[in-house]
Amino acid sequence: MSKALRLDRLLANSGVGSRSNADMIIRRGQVVVDGTQIRDGAHKVAPELFDTVRVDGEPLDHPHGVLIILHKPVGYSCSHDEREAPTVDELLPESWALRTPRPEWAGRLDRETSGLLLVSDDHQLIHRVTSPRHHVEKTYQVTLAAPLPDVGRAIEAFASGTLMLDADPKPCLAATLVPTSDPLRVDVVLHEGRYHQARRMIVAVGGHVEHLHRTQFGQWSLADLDIGHWADVTA
Ligand code: URA
Repeated sequence: MSKALRLDRLLANSGVGSRSNADMIIRRGQVVVDGTQIRDGAHKVAPELFDTVRVDGEPLDHPHGVLIILHKPVGYSCSHDEREAPTVDELLPESWALRTPRPEWAGRLDRETSGLLLVSDDHQLIHRVTSPRHHVEKTYQVTLAAPLPDVGRAIEAFASGTLMLDADPKPCLAATLVPTSDPLRVDVVLHEGRYHQARRMIVAVGGHVEHLHRTQFGQWSLADLDIGHWADVTA
């Protein structure tokens, strides 16, 4: 739950502009809280009044913070660097680049990976769900270039907690590989998030990933969210 905030900070957090910009807007009399014009940026606003704030008559965008899931398409990079365009920022509201703190993703996906990306301006939450200590479960649908040479051995290797990746000194935490009726499709459940981990684990058992798609991240599931779209999961 949010805590009481100074009005200028609440506006800056919500992407209205910088703190000094917000202060100017407030001094000009453009801001109303619960029906009353407020001209003091230091005015404290209780969380239950966040939704009553109006700037030029418009409510604030996500005044209690951002927590969304995005269905990332293939070809978009998890980066704020325009040189890496297209980036997932292009799929999110432009004003979010002005929010303080800026919404970030929890556990990036490779450019060529699609699926669930959790995005939030609650950086403590992001830290919690990405910390290797918390072992948050991530589920991937894997499409293989060719059937695995030995599915039984692959299942055992994933579950062993001893599977080594190229140029990585520590073994992978025990993971799950679930075959499907299609020899070119397996599901993979990981509890950590190393660089290209799913792809490299598949290589370690003699396979090659054609396509990777994340369907689940901890308690959040992609369900039927359309590709390129996002949905609030704040509840
Ligand atoms: N593992 C990968 O190899 N790529 C991703 O994007 C996520 C997990």
